[in-house]
Amino acid sequence: MTAYFNGLVLTEAGARPGVAELRLPEVGPGQVRVRVRAAGVCHSDLSMVNGTIRPSFPLVLGHEAAGEVVEVGAHVTRAAVGDHVVLNWQPACRTCWFCEQGEPWLCSTSSGVASLENGVTLDGVPVHVALGLGAFAEQVVAPENAVIKVPPALPLELAALLSCGVLTGAGAVRNTAQVRPGESVVVIGLGGVGLSVVAAARAAGAGQVIAVDVTEAKKSLAEAAGATDFVVSSDTLSKDIRGRTSGRGADHAFECVGRAATIRAAWRATRRGGKVTVVGMGSNDDQVSLSALDIFSSARTLRSSVYGSADFDLEIPRLADDVLTGRLPLDHLITDRITLPEIPEAFDRMSRGEGARSVVTL
Ligand code: APR
Ligand code: ZN
Repeated sequence: MTAYFNGLVLTEAGARPGVAELRLPEVGPGQVRVRVRAAGVCHSDLSMVNGTIRPSFPLVLGHEAAGEVVEVGAHVTRAAVGDHVVLNWQPACRTCWFCEQGEPWLCSTSSGVASLENGVTLDGVPVHVALGLGAFAEQVVAPENAVIKVPPALPLELAALLSCGVLTGAGAVRNTAQVRPGESVVVIGLGGVGLSVVAAARAAGAGQVIAVDVTEAKKSLAEAAGATDFVVSSDTLSKDIRGRTSGRGADHAFECVGRAATIRAAWRATRRGGKVTVVGMGSNDDQVSLSALDIFSSARTLRSSVYGSADFDLEIPRLADDVLTGRLPLDHLITDRITLPEIPEAFDRMSRGEGARSVVTL
């Protein structure tokens, strides 16, 4: 069955995205159709709008979403009609070199930032979908390996957040940096991703979680997520952090902004031998500079964390369980509930550093 549905389309970088009626292809073998119920507004969506990353256009935005399976194609085994699922923007083929190495988050068959593969059209013309999904839409047709079942008891608006921001943040803590009980942690940038890092670091038993942002307004959100300290970012940040960590610097720093300046700040916030984990996605022309002597003598580790270095098929159900049992509280993450046409205003709030996650409920 061919269907029409509403989705949020961006025609070019810098334009204001608008709702348009899109035509969805028939569900083919191995594909599923999902009725999207909730979709989070993530900074990566904003990065496509403001030109930090450069996708192809026209583009259906959105990639952090959850919903209900309404149709399955031939041979589909992973999901059935009525299942609650989250959408995965980096589905793993399980056969490429990276998947066989046990690194499915780096699967080399990824559809890229914008793809035409889904067969969505607008006025008869093919349109790209963001990260293989285009989830700011009433419905999505995707390959079955792009859906992961979640328990019906989990509210779909929280399920949506698991699929990008929370998996990215919690995975960075658990898998990439492997934070241990008692360690000290600095988190720079307190959006949906950074606040998930704060919550996961506390859940991992971190003794001290120092949350950092440019705006004082993030303090109450940081505390709700479990931060022990809050610091407004300034030129004296590394001194401020040292003052709170026995003069040494923290065991870990997580950069959740996506800028060279904050990667450097994260570097300087850690102790000798500390671990710096870059979670933010920055632009290609923002260069980080560190001296060769500093890199050697500080004995630090600098690593990036893509999609939480996580095997999402295993970790999304685990995170769902953590949320349901209260081990990973996420309620504070949702600060705005909005409709599809209100997404551009959510981008404006995000650009001003206001709130945590805006979630579109459909
Ligand atoms: N120092 C500290 N915090 C900063 C700075 C800075 N120099 N600049 C911006 N911030 C803060 C903002 O005030 C905001 O609270 O970083 C936060 C970013 O949050 P969001 O815009 O909500 O972004 P989020 O969705 O959490 O994503 C963060 O991770 O996955 C990537 O592409 C994503 O790069 C982005 C990052
Ligand atoms: Zn995202």
